[in-house]
Amino acid sequence: VPVAVGRAGAKAILLGEHAVVYGRPAIAIPVRALGVEAHARPTDGPARLSSSLYHGPITRAPERLAVTLTAMSAALAAAGREDLALDIAIESSVPAERGLGSSAAVSAAVIEATLGACGIRVDDERMHELIQTAERAAHGSPSGLDARTVRARAAVWFDGGRIEPVTVGRDLTFVIADSGVRGRTREAVTAVAERRRADPTGIEAALDELGGLATALREQVSAGARDDIGHAMSRAHTLLNGMGVGDPALDHLVHAATSAGALGAKLTGGGRGGCVLALAADAGAAVELSQRLTRAGAAAVWTTTVEGAA
Ligand code: PMV
Repeated sequence: VPVAVGRAGAKAILLGEHAVVYGRPAIAIPVRALGVEAHARPTDGPARLSSSLYHGPITRAPERLAVTLTAMSAALAAAGREDLALDIAIESSVPAERGLGSSAAVSAAVIEATLGACGIRVDDERMHELIQTAERAAHGSPSGLDARTVRARAAVWFDGGRIEPVTVGRDLTFVIADSGVRGRTREAVTAVAERRRADPTGIEAALDELGGLATALREQVSAGARDDIGHAMSRAHTLLNGMGVGDPALDHLVHAATSAGALGAKLTGGGRGGCVLALAADAGAAVELSQRLTRAGAAAVWTTTVEGAA
């Protein structure tokens, strides 16, 4: 029986995390250096799962693999093949709980592989719905930004649940630095909701400002205005801190990045841990920036370039 393969990549939110939960727009970028590959093969024996976290029958898989299992079941149901037992193997270089979309990427890869093993393909919208089903098992009510971006090839504008490509005027090289602290997206989303109940005016003002920054950023990206992009990122970091989703380890890396010459830096993803995204002045400066972030204590660093038209 041929093995069916599914693939998806990591993502980073350039601007708009949390604000998207309240209907504001966001811009996200695929991170090609990190990805997930899933292999699915029908088996005569009991369904099995193998990944870095677990190796064995799916009936005994630990709770933290709920997203993977939900992804597989949703895809089998979509194919009308709930009867089919699969042997699924997952390889991922996307660190979990770092705001890089690992749950959406694993879900997307598992769903694609599962559908492939059933011999069916679905359209983009159906695929999105299936990933969202798995994402809901991960964090309750996901905006859909991760589910869309892990399958995108270039920077995306996300608004009202849909994506559009973003025109990129000049190459943008980012360094992503992992604080090593587990990001707690669900907790962070809850914290923002609580603050919004306690201080609706203050939080709405921050959400509006983030929405305005994202809208302006789209133009800045298309114009290749790197300094403006950097300023917007740093301002977003301050606003996110004010919303209660920061972390001292993130602030430390943001300061290290800006003092090493980054044009701007911010937390990316849910926050309260996870990663910092920093914009380098150019590709050469990114090398020095990565080294400085490593020396500042980053658990890992990755560089990703969003290619511009010129
Ligand atoms: O931490 P991540 O990679 O799951 O990103 C979460 C992004 C949020 O805007 C905080 C939540 C969402 O559903 O979009």
